[in-house]
Amino acid sequence: MTAQLREVESTAPQGFSVAPYAANKRLQVVTLTSETISAFDKAIAEWPVQALEYKPFLRYAVADKLDAITGYALGKFLNETMQDRDTGAFMLQYEGAPDIEAGELRTEFDVKLSTAISHIIGMPNHDAMYGKYYARFTVLNDDNSDSYLRQAHRRMELHNDGTYVNERTDFVLMQKLGEAHMEGGDSLLLHVDDWAELDRFYHHPMAKQDIVWGAPKSKNVETKIEHPIFFEEDKNGKPHMLFIDQFAEPQNMAEGLYLYEMGESLEGDENFFGVRLPVGTMLVVQNHCWLHGRDKFVAHPQLSRELLRQRGHFTK
Ligand SMILES: [Fe+2]
Repeated sequence: MTAQLREVESTAPQGFSVAPYAANKRLQVVTLTSETISAFDKAIAEWPVQALEYKPFLRYAVADKLDAITGYALGKFLNETMQDRDTGAFMLQYEGAPDIEAGELRTEFDVKLSTAISHIIGMPNHDAMYGKYYARFTVLNDDNSDSYLRQAHRRMELHNDGTYVNERTDFVLMQKLGEAHMEGGDSLLLHVDDWAELDRFYHHPMAKQDIVWGAPKSKNVETKIEHPIFFEEDKNGKPHMLFIDQFAEPQNMAEGLYLYEMGESLEGDENFFGVRLPVGTMLVVQNHCWLHGRDKFVAHPQLSRELLRQRGHFTK
């Protein structure tokens, strides 16, 4: 796959630098300089996160402020990365910003930054679980929720998002807002084209058969929908996937065994890799050609991790 990758130079174009991730060169690591961050913080200081929640157009204004600081090189790079199947993912971090205080002010800033990024590449869908264009949620040592999202001590299996909703979910943005007493819990990624058994499942008679998908109560999504796992092809005729083990509702033995074997194959695949996200860092993936998951944590009574997610569609 490396031969097909675009050559990305490890230079600082305008206010940011780019380098491929060590464990998998598809993932692009984008680092904003502290000058860019300070200028962005100043440019958007008049708008608290609440203003962005109340006035959707401000989210685009925030995105434009950041892109303008980089001479619009950032937007160009991020969009090209997301549209290129061979990459389709970036991790975005920033150098220290001395003028931004730790704590809730830093979190406010991080929410604004991820808002800018999501609106540079597209538009976030309404998050029914949280009731806003983004969701903030906390993983604790004890959890009684009805899905594996917030359960710390087990690996969250590789999956795509947006399997049980009618809206397109072209991208998923995951951002770390806070963390304490954490050991383990890396994000896990597998590109569909790196999945060793892709052909076995893509050329299977069930690959294009509709499956029923529903969600547990906490997701606040009442309706069920139907779509195949391999629901469409991209512009080059390569498969786009929508799979998650928990929310598929097989209606007969053939569907059940196809889904079961797919889950086993994905969990047994060795081509996945882990990504550790420091606080403030975000991971953005093209949701239909990347599967994502999360490794398990080591138990600790005061374990805590706060995350933000945005899921949306491309607008270009
Ligand atoms: Fe997910």
